[in-house]
Amino acid sequence: MNVQANILMSGVAADALPVAPGLEVCATGGPVGAVVRGVDLAADVPAETVFSLLAVFNHSGLMIVPGQERLTPDRQAQIARWFGPSFVRGRMQGKRDQLPMTENPFVQLLSNRDQKAAGPKPVADKSGAATQPLGIHSDVQDYDAPPDVTILHGAIVPPPSAGGNTHFGNLYMAYDDLAPEMKQRLEGAKWRPHSTYKTMRGVQQKEAMANPEADRQSPVLHPVARTHPVTGRKALWVSSFTEEVVGDWSREEGVALARQLFDHVAQPKYWYTHVWTPHDVLFWDNRCVNHRRDTWDASYVREMHRAQAGGSLPF
Ligand code: SIN
Repeated sequence: MNVQANILMSGVAADALPVAPGLEVCATGGPVGAVVRGVDLAADVPAETVFSLLAVFNHSGLMIVPGQERLTPDRQAQIARWFGPSFVRGRMQGKRDQLPMTENPFVQLLSNRDQKAAGPKPVADKSGAATQPLGIHSDVQDYDAPPDVTILHGAIVPPPSAGGNTHFGNLYMAYDDLAPEMKQRLEGAKWRPHSTYKTMRGVQQKEAMANPEADRQSPVLHPVARTHPVTGRKALWVSSFTEEVVGDWSREEGVALARQLFDHVAQPKYWYTHVWTPHDVLFWDNRCVNHRRDTWDASYVREMHRAQAGGSLPF
């Protein structure tokens, strides 16, 4: 990312985008992301500002909007619909997922706060489950049409020294860096995610694992090189969801290729680290960016509100 020239992840200069009066857009200085200032998302946002925000989102992979103390879950759910219909998980027998939710049914609650206690007290969690790290992924890739955008509001975040950072990987760069022979090999190739029944975390998982379907192969196939519908750039769209690359080769080779590509996208040179400050709101583009999250010191509360929208078929 060329910060001086303010070049965004897609290769476009922020100045070349339609930036509404009062908005300030700055590349993060890492390989992903831009910071946007000058908007109060809780207020009535003028149409030209929404237009700018969508443009910045589409070109930056990750749009960081700090200082959104006033953002409620209801307003967050509304904002998510700037990007398309609200995305709701829950394939299991027609049920919606059972992730903890905020007071809004489209905004999930990711939190280790004891919800019964008065004040921000962490849950007693000897197992460490509440604060576990999340591996490299792009959201809900076990579905055929995953959400295009995820919006995460850091409602309560631990101090930086306590961990809980979220990292974002640039999948355009990862694709561009492949050797020409590998690009040729991957031309038109598809990958198969792990079965939805195995990957649904907290989504009726016990019930799911008892289901004989759990051992079935997922019917979903995704392009290995995904083309972004706005920038036209190709992203190497593999992650920890990727079980095998399917092609004119054996399953063993397909699994080994998936591992090789995963190791490629995991290289630190592709990653930007976000250190949270309270009420940052992050919009990430699941079509071209992977992310992962660190664990954090369980004596601190970390409470995030997550909304997802869109859901276009990858090509
Ligand atoms: C997520 O992967 O959606 C959550 C990331 C985070 O908690 O920072």
